[in-house]
Amino acid sequence: MTINLVTKYQSTPLKGVITIPADKSIAHRSLIIGSLTGGKIKISNYSSSADCISTLNIIKNLGAEIEFLDEKTLLLDAKNCFMAPNTSLDCGNSGTSMRLLSGICAGQKFSSELIGDISLSRRPMARVIKPLELMGAKIFSNDNKAPLKFEPSNLCGIDYVSNIASAQVKSCILLAGLNAQGETSVVEPYLSRNHTELMLKFFNADIKCVDNKTVIRKSNLEPKNLDVVGDISSASFFIVATLLVPNSEIIIKNVGINQTRSGIIDVLFKMGANIEILDKKNVCMEDVADIKIKYTENLKPVTIEGSIIPRLIDELPIIAVLLTQANGTSIVKDASDLRNKESDRIKLVVTQLKKMGCDIEETNDGFIINGKSELKGECDFEIAHDHRLAMSLFVASLVTEKSSVINGFEWVNTSFPTFLNCMSDLGVNA
Ligand code: S3P
Repeated sequence: MTINLVTKYQSTPLKGVITIPADKSIAHRSLIIGSLTGGKIKISNYSSSADCISTLNIIKNLGAEIEFLDEKTLLLDAKNCFMAPNTSLDCGNSGTSMRLLSGICAGQKFSSELIGDISLSRRPMARVIKPLELMGAKIFSNDNKAPLKFEPSNLCGIDYVSNIASAQVKSCILLAGLNAQGETSVVEPYLSRNHTELMLKFFNADIKCVDNKTVIRKSNLEPKNLDVVGDISSASFFIVATLLVPNSEIIIKNVGINQTRSGIIDVLFKMGANIEILDKKNVCMEDVADIKIKYTENLKPVTIEGSIIPRLIDELPIIAVLLTQANGTSIVKDASDLRNKESDRIKLVVTQLKKMGCDIEETNDGFIINGKSELKGECDFEIAHDHRLAMSLFVASLVTEKSSVINGFEWVNTSFPTFLNCMSDLGVNA
């Protein structure tokens, strides 16, 4: 059902403590890599996002038994993984499902087909098809886009130098490498999120990581129970909302702060945002902490470029909202892959924030924002099936006196079905 959400001005501060739902990237990997162990695993704090449910259904179609013990805890029994599926494997909107599972489907003794929704079917897949074919995979695609059909094949290890810093590409190759003859290595220009590497280590795979290079060999994984930490990408909407709405102060519990994901925290410190990282610990190889945030009146502009980009790639739409409120010119560059996300996020961020009266200019690989702009309401927003755009515009609209309409707000379910509930828990009139 289409939801055209009417935004509301937030006249009172956000206050309280929330726990953010599971990290989507880690949740996908817990089922995909967990099923490679062939054993029984309890996964605590699985994600209820539509994307992670797509992965769950695919893993079931490939032979796993999955039983929910409660809303967020599941028991995976992978003794029958992997068997020929009797249907196409539907990744929905999820690029992570399609690209990571390509690495699994490529080296099987059976045929399979990965399909996706309109948005996913437009996204580039050559980035995974090319290395998998070099490993010996037989893949048929729609001009390097989904649907992707895999014929049975035996894979051989390769040394692959990727020209993009993409965790999905790296993970696809590593997962294929786990099932290939010999050694497989991947080098990337900058280190992208390393959840796959950490989880493979957690399950005792033969994997070595030095700087931007990862080497893997065929290994038997050992089943172990796993706990998924909270999603820093989901937390980022609440962080920015708190920084924007006067007198707000909140704590977000159990947020994953893995170095390869926490670029937004570095940016916030540079901007002079009032934030504190509390109670750091490590859960199943992932760093996690509570984050305390307070409203901050004077924010400094920043340039965001180079190696930090993969560390905050998914947060750039909400960071753009924050940059409109910094005093001066901020620049985001080296982020051209943003055009290949659920939408062309460069174009969409720029066109939608312009509607709010922001001084923002599109460049090939990012945008330039001249702050501080007073954000205006009465906008009719298009989000082009993009959950992160919808949530970013919701946050920006908290400080506009007049309402706007966010068309297609139901797409938020892709990553964060309880987004509005978490907002109401902090006193937002959602
Ligand atoms: C993801 C990697 C990133 C990110 C996506 C999730 C992952 O994509 O944008 O939301 O879980 O590996 P790329 O690898 O294409 O940069």
